[in-house]
Amino acid sequence: MQMTDIILKKRDGFELSKEEIAFFIKNYVNNIIPDYQASALAMAIYFQGMNKKEISFLTDSMLHSGEIIDLSSINGVKIDKHSTGGVGDKTSLVLGPLVASCGAKVAKMSGRGLGHTGGTLDKLESIKGVSVNVSKENFIKQVNDIGIAIIGQTGDLVPADKKLYALRDVTATVDSIPLIASSIMSKKLASGADTILLDVKFGSGAFMKDIKSAEELASTMVEIGKHLNRDTKAVLTDMDQPLGMAIGNSLEVIEACETLKGRGPKDLVELCLNLGAIILKQAHIEEDIEKGKVLLQSKIDNLEAFKKLEELIKYQGGDISYLEDYSKFEKSKYQKEIYSSKEGYVEKISALEIGECAMHLGAGRATKDDVIDMASGIVLNKKVGDFVKKGELLLTCYTNKENVEEIYKDLENSYIIVQNKVPNHKIIHEIIG
Ligand code: URA
Repeated sequence: MQMTDIILKKRDGFELSKEEIAFFIKNYVNNIIPDYQASALAMAIYFQGMNKKEISFLTDSMLHSGEIIDLSSINGVKIDKHSTGGVGDKTSLVLGPLVASCGAKVAKMSGRGLGHTGGTLDKLESIKGVSVNVSKENFIKQVNDIGIAIIGQTGDLVPADKKLYALRDVTATVDSIPLIASSIMSKKLASGADTILLDVKFGSGAFMKDIKSAEELASTMVEIGKHLNRDTKAVLTDMDQPLGMAIGNSLEVIEACETLKGRGPKDLVELCLNLGAIILKQAHIEEDIEKGKVLLQSKIDNLEAFKKLEELIKYQGGDISYLEDYSKFEKSKYQKEIYSSKEGYVEKISALEIGECAMHLGAGRATKDDVIDMASGIVLNKKVGDFVKKGELLLTCYTNKENVEEIYKDLENSYIIVQNKVPNHKIIHEIIG
């Protein structure tokens, strides 16, 4: 088999066989196929696409390029949830403890933030002492002991994705549905959970800018999961404006704590109750979605979900006093309030712009090696649909950086205020699977 023939075949729009896809992945991981041939194939896939069969074969080959975690020694249905990434997305910090307090087994490997999107591991590390580097044995023990662990990737999971994703990043081939779907699903499948719930975001702050492409990505991933015998569902959710009010690491942890104490922002609460009810159904804890939501709400009301977050943080070495006394979190040197120069209804808040501004204030990474400032970020005071008076507070910025006047201007401009009433954004649009 020759790599040039495989590139040619895909370039001309033909279907690749299971053997050809396996040949490419195996020899690319072993450094036999060079980057220039792999990038030519990635670009051919970008333009010609792949059918469902090819995407399943690609995912399967990637999945088997490294270690596959065996979670069978954890009792019960092991659940995992994945978000395709967004701005202010602290869902895992709320949802994980929430469903674990109902008896679900949450075995979750999370990622770090990059660009305008945040990552759960960074957020967790804003709490003093928290370790996300947990061995496979301790990961399993923790889930058996307290029902939840949120850690960084252990072992040699999907080396094919590590290589291919880095290559796609520099060859303009990231935003290809077959390549995104196989990348995400190979890692989810290798992490060993029995059920997967995908939170596929769409809108300005998401990978998928419109609902149609988000639908295509979601149904592609659900089919891959089903094809590989894993109970997989996807929910399409809005990321046209940031989720909740807080953007930035410690600010988001505080918002997650508040949500678990019953004082969360409406969109975040709604999202967590809906995703949570689907997870409880997947885990066979509560088959009825509406009853599931009631059960979840009761765990917020009686603080059992918050206590589960405390257990999680304590187990992973963190100082739980931070969860009650927010003044313990590192503070930024500067705080700047941005006020509205207009009166009217908020029509739009660009999640992309807010995410990029938060990154420039220090909350995110422009490149993988940048160091995050845990204290910096943005807290919104108004969301889409809200009425704003002239001179009223739109948002507050926290940073340790000087000379960021341009960012403050961009933030004010990220709000579009109009005269006519605007409906609130719907957070959940569709459930697939
Ligand atoms: N996230 C991933 O893990 N892979 C992609 O290709 C895109 C987003």
